[in-house]
Amino acid sequence: MKWNNENVPDQTGRVAVITGANSGIGLEAARQLAGKGAHVVLACRNEAKANAAMDDIRTTFPDAQLSFHPLNLASQKHVRMSATALKKLHPRIDLLINNAGVMWLEEGLTEDGYDRQFGTNHLGHFTFTLLLRDCFANVDGARVVTVSSLAHRGGKIHFENPTLASEYGRHKAYCQSKLANLMFAIELNRQLQTEGNKAISVACHPGGSNTNLAGPGISSKLPFGLGSAFDALWGLFTQSAAKGALPTLFAATAENVAGGDYYGPDGPFEAIGYPKKARARHYARDAALGKKLWELSERLTGASWSPR
Ligand SMILES: NC(=O)c1ccc[n+]([C@@H]2O[C@H](COP(=O)([O-])OP(=O)(O)OC[C@H]3O[C@@H](n4cnc5c(N)ncnc54)[C@H](OP(=O)(O)O)[C@@H]3O)[C@@H](O)[C@H]2O)c1
Repeated sequence: MKWNNENVPDQTGRVAVITGANSGIGLEAARQLAGKGAHVVLACRNEAKANAAMDDIRTTFPDAQLSFHPLNLASQKHVRMSATALKKLHPRIDLLINNAGVMWLEEGLTEDGYDRQFGTNHLGHFTFTLLLRDCFANVDGARVVTVSSLAHRGGKIHFENPTLASEYGRHKAYCQSKLANLMFAIELNRQLQTEGNKAISVACHPGGSNTNLAGPGISSKLPFGLGSAFDALWGLFTQSAAKGALPTLFAATAENVAGGDYYGPDGPFEAIGYPKKARARHYARDAALGKKLWELSERLTGASWSPR
């Protein structure tokens, strides 16, 4: 029997914060963790959607302990306010799941002047995680899980132009942001290890999952005229959001997970299936590039991880 929701261990007494938990992978991860007894904090940008998600989870698990916490990752100011308030409410966080994401947006900037995909998917989570550091770093068994994508393989970090000004492409920007997610997870683990902290940082990806990520008209947004092939193959290489959440749940709760690991589905092309170790591009594991991205992110956000 392959690893599935039934294998998620008891989470009683633990606090799990999940970004973007009102939809897709985040909602399904929230459901299973709450079902195993965790207090799940749904860190979301839209309260009405978060309330609907909590109602939905309670139809499966009526006694679920859930709370909404406002978080808009596209605004550094809001991320800071959100993290500061969260620290007061939950000085101890056992699981931080950096899940929220946007994909294939048209060119546009966050209020801080960064590409919306890099700014939301990477810089928002970077600042959120660093500001919450005291809540998880020395908690026994604590994990930070960051959700990347198969798309990381198509990316590179444009260190001199992360906003992709005058060279913007929506797929290029998404790939960069998901590569940044993976590099961040690995570099965060290096920092935790170097400082002898108890928490570990792990990455995962859901393969191809039926969620709201692409929005309507997904096939028309694909590059190289792949839309019609995509329509035909979509069913073959995608799975439910619940199954797509398994690598997240595995990274967050399974035994024998080590810091710096990366998990995804075990089926063809890592697109569907049950959790197993996934293939990270060499670029993503390059320590010098990881440090360089970290320093760039510190410069862009003003957040820092000073040893203490
Ligand atoms: N689905 C796939 O096939 C796939 C493949 C590879 C990787 N992923 C990754 O999986 C993660 C989850 O995506 P999903 O597929 O579950 O998509 P989804 O159903 O669209 O969920 C994305 C979540 O992110 C939230 N979000 C977006 N922008 C935000 C912001 N500025 N601040 C706070 N929250 C924000 C969304 O909130 P709203 O509902 O308010 O928009 C939603 O809750 C993402 O990181 C994505 O890149 C997905």
